[in-house]
Amino acid sequence: MCGIVGYIGNEQAAPIILEGLAKLEYRGYDSAGMAIFDGQKIQIKKSVGRLKVLENLTHGGEMMPGFSGIGHTRWATHGAPSDANSHPHYNPSGTIAVVHNGIIENYIPLRNKMISKGYEFKSETDTEVLAHLLDYYYKGNPIEAIAKVLHRVEGSYALGILFAQHPGQLFAVRKDSPLIVGQNDAGCFIASDVPAILKYTRTVTYVDNQEIVRLTPEGMRFFTVDEEEISKEAVTIEWDADAAEKGGYEHFMLKEIYEQPKTVTDTISPRIKDGDIVIEELKMSDEELRGIKRIHIVACGSAYHTGVTAKYVIEKLVRIPVEVDVASEFRYRDPILEEGSMVVVISQSGETADTLAALRESKARGMKVLGIVNVVGSTIAREADSVMYTWAGPEISVATTKAYSAQLVALYMLAMKLGKARGVIDEELFATLLADLRRLPEQIEFLLGQKTKIQRFANRYVGAKDIFFIGRGIDYAISLEGSLKLKEISYIHSEAYAAGELKHGTISLIEDGTLVVAVSTQPELFQKTISNIVEVKARGAFVMALTTTGNKEMDKAADYVIYIPQTNNYFTNSLAIIPLQLFGYYVAVGRGCDVDKPRNLAKSVTVE
Ligand code: AGP
Repeated sequence: MCGIVGYIGNEQAAPIILEGLAKLEYRGYDSAGMAIFDGQKIQIKKSVGRLKVLENLTHGGEMMPGFSGIGHTRWATHGAPSDANSHPHYNPSGTIAVVHNGIIENYIPLRNKMISKGYEFKSETDTEVLAHLLDYYYKGNPIEAIAKVLHRVEGSYALGILFAQHPGQLFAVRKDSPLIVGQNDAGCFIASDVPAILKYTRTVTYVDNQEIVRLTPEGMRFFTVDEEEISKEAVTIEWDADAAEKGGYEHFMLKEIYEQPKTVTDTISPRIKDGDIVIEELKMSDEELRGIKRIHIVACGSAYHTGVTAKYVIEKLVRIPVEVDVASEFRYRDPILEEGSMVVVISQSGETADTLAALRESKARGMKVLGIVNVVGSTIAREADSVMYTWAGPEISVATTKAYSAQLVALYMLAMKLGKARGVIDEELFATLLADLRRLPEQIEFLLGQKTKIQRFANRYVGAKDIFFIGRGIDYAISLEGSLKLKEISYIHSEAYAAGELKHGTISLIEDGTLVVAVSTQPELFQKTISNIVEVKARGAFVMALTTTGNKEMDKAADYVIYIPQTNNYFTNSLAIIPLQLFGYYVAVGRGCDVDKPRNLAKSVTVE
């Protein structure tokens, strides 16, 4: 995933672009570059390394005067991070420059074709093919040239394009990769995401697939790939500016961990009306809900982990079979999607390529798809048949926390809605669940208050080599997420295991002092998990247990215990994950890791 920013207007473009790119570094940051039209020609500066390198190279943009330009911060897909592979890419005469987020899937045959026509490539990227194709098709009309290129390329793209022969214009194109445009009285903007231009305008327009935008200092015009002009609706962004800033926390991740009481409340409250749960966006009657025979949940990473939790919750509460798939596996296993099945895709960004592909595969097979998505107007949100937004606000840290928690409560509400519609959750149980749901934010707040205790414990493990997480049932799902949180930001090897499975091999890795985090929030499984704790302790493990207040036996079994408040057995993930998020965060901070931008990762993986 990469970040794109463009500007055209009556201000110097380079500083605006650099500032916008800084807000998008979470989208990828292994190299960066800019192309600015200086009145005569397009000037390009680009380099491997963080955006800071480009800022220094261009003296904050001063070395690149001009009133229109495009910029890019990269997360490498084709071609390792290098100066040559950095964007923008350009045609032989340097009169056309392009920045790209996405992947051109047929770039190899196109590259060969262009080489046969005499073009020389300076990079290993798929994007450079676009620059030469634009050159090949440009006969004086940029829209025409762009449209012809779009008919040739396959894959995903958000593009910013400059034509030196059209100095007062800037072009943007979108297919599958996110792109927005906006305007204020200083000019017009393009960006991959809202934070890049929020400082200049709250009114943005989401560019849809295969739409071309021509921007001038005075305004924007939209065209289809058939070069027909269309009109588009703008939306107003409600986020306040500091929502995309750190708000006084050291890292976005800690800020977002602490936002969870609010974001869980924001996700729950609008859907509770008169003691009932109303999910208008579901667009399904109770009768249709009763007709559902199987649910397929498909997602990636942490979103997948919420799906694993939902399987336990829905199957226990609602008695509907639930299958959970990692999105990158789903469509390649030729899934059996029968009549009466419902597909639920879960995605914070709404742009994850594997999850989007699973959505499309499901729709192609006649399935109704519900999206549980955090980013309004994202591709998954717009292509799903219905979308249940998680109102977690912009999540900047690469490691998800608040969106994960919002996804959990969205799934609980879906389960409750289904159970009630199908008559398997009676009024009394429903009322209890609703009360427990509403209590979660204050209980999360309470757990956040244990930060210092968790930080102290975490500091003991900054030097750890291996850390294992074990649990049964929902506790296994919690372990999956606890392990991912730790390893993706601290780079410590970690694995999550169904507690009963550990002894079938992996227990051989337990050595003296190995930390094992045992999650035990399901009363009917306490004894079983305690047996597993005994097993690993016998091999030298140090066991930190995460259990529910009142489970006194755990004091004797484990070496260190963190208690979470009482809630019903279905919702414990929402509480147990809080200490695990803090544990992972403080271990990573203790190791001096770049918590918000872990190496090799990006906030949304918009390539397969
Ligand atoms: C979570 O901390 C990771 N950053 C990653 O696993 C993420 O959950 C996954 O890439 C899915 O992203 P999405 O929710 O935006 O689709």
